[in-house]
Amino acid sequence: MNILLLGSGGRENALAWKIKQSSKVQNLYVAPGNAGTHLIARNVDISITDFPAIKQFALENKIDVVVVGPEEPLVKGIYDSFINDQEINHIPVIGPSQEGAKLEGSKDFAKQFMIRHNIPTARYKSFTIDQLDEAYSFLGELEAPYVLKADGLAAGKGVLIINDLDEAKRELKEMLGGMFGDASRTVVIEEFLSGIECSVFVLTDGDSYKILPVAKDYKRIGEGDTGLNTGGMGAISPVSFADETFMKKVEERIVIPTVEGLKKDNIIYKGFIFIGLIEVKGEPMVIEYNVRMGDPETEAVMLRIKSDLVSLFEGVMTGTLQDKTLEIDDRYAVTVMLVSGGYPGDYEKNKEMSGLDSVTDSILFHAGTKLSGDKVLTSGGRVIAVSSYGETKDAALALSFKNAEKVSFDKKYYRKDIGFDLK
Ligand code: AMP
Ligand code: GLY
Repeated sequence: MNILLLGSGGRENALAWKIKQSSKVQNLYVAPGNAGTHLIARNVDISITDFPAIKQFALENKIDVVVVGPEEPLVKGIYDSFINDQEINHIPVIGPSQEGAKLEGSKDFAKQFMIRHNIPTARYKSFTIDQLDEAYSFLGELEAPYVLKADGLAAGKGVLIINDLDEAKRELKEMLGGMFGDASRTVVIEEFLSGIECSVFVLTDGDSYKILPVAKDYKRIGEGDTGLNTGGMGAISPVSFADETFMKKVEERIVIPTVEGLKKDNIIYKGFIFIGLIEVKGEPMVIEYNVRMGDPETEAVMLRIKSDLVSLFEGVMTGTLQDKTLEIDDRYAVTVMLVSGGYPGDYEKNKEMSGLDSVTDSILFHAGTKLSGDKVLTSGGRVIAVSSYGETKDAALALSFKNAEKVSFDKKYYRKDIGFDLK
């Protein structure tokens, strides 16, 4: 098979690594890719949202399936752009239709979906600028802290959690006035849930589903989960509190109603569903849906999938996912993200990296890197993920930390406490 994978982060490097292990793969292309995907696949200089260029490439290179890493092309309708075009509607896209991608693209849509299908989530109401008084009075009904969410995509910055009621009102007004552009013209206000979070990944062909290994990511820049939010500083799989009892509840109350709900609503969905969960007194509740794999969770989760991922994709493409087996590695898999000093604020790029070849017993997934001649340079805030296996969480982490020291670039930073809150 010829596969085109879209994206350029650590997630895509990890997906490419796993796809590449399949004997079914003839050619793997990554658009645009990074210095890590360059080592195992062919990078193609095409933007992930340039649908005409993607179409042309897919035709010229006899692509058999398009795998979509990030949400943006999905929310912009890449699935539909293939299915509605006679010249390329024979090429399946692993991902939801544009309607399905609203589960991530619109928080209001996602909340309505959850309420409609009885999926446990925080109490909420949505408002626009002409409903400011109602919005203030709804805030008054809730207790602090107040959770305000821009309805649309806001580069991971659209959620504000505020302790003071007056400040929450001020921020709400700003949001509705366009603080996040059109993304916050509608704001979801919801009840604050207190608990520990984890990420559940589901692959579906629209009918049956497989639950992939559960993971927990670490979003804050500072140790002890302090400081600003980042794209993710590390991840652990499995997650100690997401045990068999908890996961049974997740499957019965959340996964099955989600897949069945999509079917009932006639929403085409053949791809990954990422369910952001919070455990509240032992019970799972949905914080958010994403319509793709998580980053950096993928850099841990892919290590634990023993089965051929391309065979699972074939199951999605042909509606035969239920006939496929998903075998999971019992070991722990962890990832530790090395970032550029200053991230998530301002940081410098184009720092030369060294020590990559001296890494043993860990797998490197490049995130923000690029090639310049034969040098590898940093090109982003999150630079490279160091992933490892272990019989225990701590054994796996010890390998990642050891190798994190071997990789060098100016102003490298990483969290040394990934997994600190798990048994
Ligand atoms: P989201 O973009 O919806 O994932 O929200 C970003 C982060 O805000 C989540 O990962 C949670 O840590 C937090 N969050 C979102 N909604 C709530 C809520 N209702 N209660 C508590 N924390 C929340
Ligand atoms: N790790 C969270 C995300 O990918 O959105």
